[in-house]
Amino acid sequence: MSSTKNVLAITSSIFGEHGESSKLVERLVKRFEAQGAKIARRNVTQNIPHVDAARFKALTSPADQLDDAQRSVVAFSNALIAELQAADTIILAAPMYNFSIPSQLKSYFDHVARAGITFKYTEQGPVGLLQNKKVYVMTTRGGFYKDTPNDLETPYLKNLLGFLGLTNLEIIYVEGIGISAEQKAQAVKAAEAEVDALKI
Ligand SMILES: Cc1cc2nc3c(=O)[nH]c(=O)nc-3n(C[C@H](O)[C@H](O)[C@H](O)COP(=O)(O)O)c2cc1C
Repeated sequence: MSSTKNVLAITSSIFGEHGESSKLVERLVKRFEAQGAKIARRNVTQNIPHVDAARFKALTSPADQLDDAQRSVVAFSNALIAELQAADTIILAAPMYNFSIPSQLKSYFDHVARAGITFKYTEQGPVGLLQNKKVYVMTTRGGFYKDTPNDLETPYLKNLLGFLGLTNLEIIYVEGIGISAEQKAQAVKAAEAEVDALKI
């Protein structure tokens, strides 16, 4: 039995569609498209403001106490969350910028990590509420960090996504792309082969 998949492709490269992570996301999107999946796209480098104190207050206040400006802040966050909730498959670009995720992606997470909506606190600890979703992560790096203490990115992502209930991750690493043109070509080719071989 196969049902139509709902894919959310999240890109976060400052280089837009030319980013190495964006290109890999698109490669996997094309595979899902060929299967008839519905594709939604979210480029977090566009129009995602930082969550400042005013926005945080709006996001954490009771709905009946909000003014119009606060309601629109909440509506924006709700719309981002609705995209995640609607997806059964998430393809996430996570280029490494200064040892971690792009700040724009961090801002996005600040909008979608909402108590009572995407996670909840219980007597047994926090529980993620985005469940039963597969997440493919494309992480591109200038250097080599995988499985070293200097990789502060994928442990952070596993932690953050897991906190939201997203525990079924498949991570594709593209490393050393800043070392030389040859190394970059080799790493990209290997990652493309990995994407093409994913059982989707
Ligand atoms: C602002 C910035 C910071 C970066 N910091 C790192 C870093 O800490 N470690 C690393 O290996 N590469 C770093 N790089 C290189 C990127 O990881 C590499 O260029 C990768 O291709 C970025 O993916 P993208 O093309 O999808 O944006 C950095 C690049 C930029 C633009």
